[in-house]
Amino acid sequence: MQLVREAVSIPVAVKLSPFFTSTAHFANELCRAGASGLVLFNRFYQPDIDIHKLDVLPRLHLFSSEDLALPLRWIAMLYGRIPADLALTSGVQNYEDAIKGLMAGASVTMMASELLKKGLFRIQELLEAMNLWLEEHEYDSIEQLQGSMSQLHVADPTAFERANYMKVLNAWRDDPTGVIL
Ligand SMILES: Cc1cc2nc3c(=O)[nH]c(=O)nc-3n(C[C@H](O)[C@H](O)[C@H](O)COP(=O)(O)O)c2cc1C
Repeated sequence: MQLVREAVSIPVAVKLSPFFTSTAHFANELCRAGASGLVLFNRFYQPDIDIHKLDVLPRLHLFSSEDLALPLRWIAMLYGRIPADLALTSGVQNYEDAIKGLMAGASVTMMASELLKKGLFRIQELLEAMNLWLEEHEYDSIEQLQGSMSQLHVADPTAFERANYMKVLNAWRDDPTGVIL
């Protein structure tokens, strides 16, 4: 990281895998080594295996809104705690997802799968829907939105933590239909 930083004059962003043992510590170390931005998260290419033809099959696995939860949580926890801009990638499909990413603390949210599925015109649609939402909810700027639902700013910061599993399981016992609120 340091070598790259010394070789270029532009800011360097690092796209992280979600598989580091201590994501927050590693993110901080990257900043210390010169990263100006972190992109959460990369998913490595995952080909399939054809057991009959004994071949490795190329596979394009597109993302869905369900994939948003992982980067959303980490961005919400890292926001305000490391000296880097955060970008969210994985599962942004609509304007609500983009707003969630910004509220968690991302400076930008990225989109690949949705544009592959629907085409580039989707960007305009999303921007219009997002502007309308901002107006309706009386936000004057993106900055006002940014980080407003991060762990530092929510009423209950433990909501992002693992111990919250207990609460979720208790709620599940009370409501065996499996609807977890
Ligand atoms: C066809 C395809 C090619 C991709 N190539 C790269 C790549 O070369 N480098 C990279 O960091 N991410 C690559 N990605 C990952 C995307 O940048 C993005 O992180 C991922 O698709 C999740 O975002 P999404 O939910 O908007 O698709 C690729 C994704 C797709 C679907």
